[in-house]
Amino acid sequence: SSTAHKTDAGDLVIGGVPVPDLVAEHNTPAYVLDEVDFRARARAFRDAFAGWDVYYAGKAFLCTAVARWIAEEGLCLDVCSAGELTVALRAGFDPARIGYHGNNKSVAELRRAVAEGVGRIIVDSFQEVDRIAMVTADTGMTARVMVRVTAGVEAHTHEYIATAHEDQKFGFSITSGDAFEAVRRLQDAPGVELLGLHSHIGSQIFDSSGFEVAARRVLALHHRVSDELGVTMPEMDLGGGFGIAYTTQDDPADPSQLATEMGKIVEHECRALGVEEPRLSIEPGRAIVGPAMATVYTVGTVKPVALDAGAVRTYVSVDGGMSDNIRTALYDADYSCTLAGRRSEATPVLARVVGKHCEAGDIVVRDEFLPGDVAPGDLVAVPGTGAYCRSMSSNYNHALRPPVIAVRDGVARVVVRRETDDDLLATDVG
Ligand code: LLP
Repeated sequence: SSTAHKTDAGDLVIGGVPVPDLVAEHNTPAYVLDEVDFRARARAFRDAFAGWDVYYAGKAFLCTAVARWIAEEGLCLDVCSAGELTVALRAGFDPARIGYHGNNKSVAELRRAVAEGVGRIIVDSFQEVDRIAMVTADTGMTARVMVRVTAGVEAHTHEYIATAHEDQKFGFSITSGDAFEAVRRLQDAPGVELLGLHSHIGSQIFDSSGFEVAARRVLALHHRVSDELGVTMPEMDLGGGFGIAYTTQDDPADPSQLATEMGKIVEHECRALGVEEPRLSIEPGRAIVGPAMATVYTVGTVKPVALDAGAVRTYVSVDGGMSDNIRTALYDADYSCTLAGRRSEATPVLARVVGKHCEAGDIVVRDEFLPGDVAPGDLVAVPGTGAYCRSMSSNYNHALRPPVIAVRDGVARVVVRRETDDDLLATDVG
């Protein structure tokens, strides 16, 4: 993260706090959240996308402190579950600035969202259309909604498929006509205010051409709706998915570059179609929180293992693993790591950082060179673990989930505490 550096003694310092000091007080494993970096990234999106609304995607990482920072930095919030909504509301987040996603929202969840005054509910199925109509009829309240459409674009890190088959659970297909039909039904539904179309094409995307194709297709539908139904929808959301650098090979675009490219396409398409530009929004999660957090572990066991041809791989076991970062095991994600508590001049060895869980796939960092004298008691920091690590963490093997410690100007503050044995046993009612 941008405020991180190493002292001559080899101590990693984040937010002005030396990691060894932080560990002395809070132990390991721990997530260290660089508040200044997080806020700077949030602001960078807000400023680059001036005139748009930026919804921080809370699924990447959410707690009440982060929800407050997001509000203070002038962003909106995307939640995708009742639990995320609960955290946001507990933090005092303005419900009018919350977007509520999900492919399987229950009537009770929709009723709550409407009653709380959630700013936009992103509708994902015909059944949800009916459920919303039921809720607004019951309560006499208004639901503000967007229609999640599948633009037929599937983006993967470095490429996109513009003819992606639509065999997945989210959204209404544009090509099948379902998206148009959803708009038509919502337009007729009493108590429903239709805000616009919503498209999200994927995650960890580097190439903006996928967004361009999606924007074109969504705008074409936006235009058709106004032409054939006489409905001018005031808004449009192009989703999240902006990639970050996990390794030195990754080369993500910065927010202002993205804003320029996406803005140009929308402007061009709207002019070509002769439609007024809707108010636009995006939903970045990873790009805001991913680089702002690191996980700090203590090394427990070091085991050199002979490979073919005389090579050796050093297995470095740390006091966490797939319960605090499942991304390596689940997505074959690439992370790096560094010694965080001392300097070493020892010749680097090929290392694999593994956890303490009961399976061989429990890998945190697949390949990294660490000093050959790496030893029990050493601190290892894995940067870039802000997105989808704590939020996808588990109690596998009854691991206690690590705390999230916010650091800023030399001060460390626990914003999510470490779980305890009592937490583990709280739900076990015998
Ligand atoms: N908006 C919608 C509708 C989404 O479904 C997502 C992510 C986002 C925004 C935010 O995407 P981001 O900017 O963070 O890429 N667990 C996976 C990522 C799943 C993303 C799900 N949807 C991972 O760890 O890579």
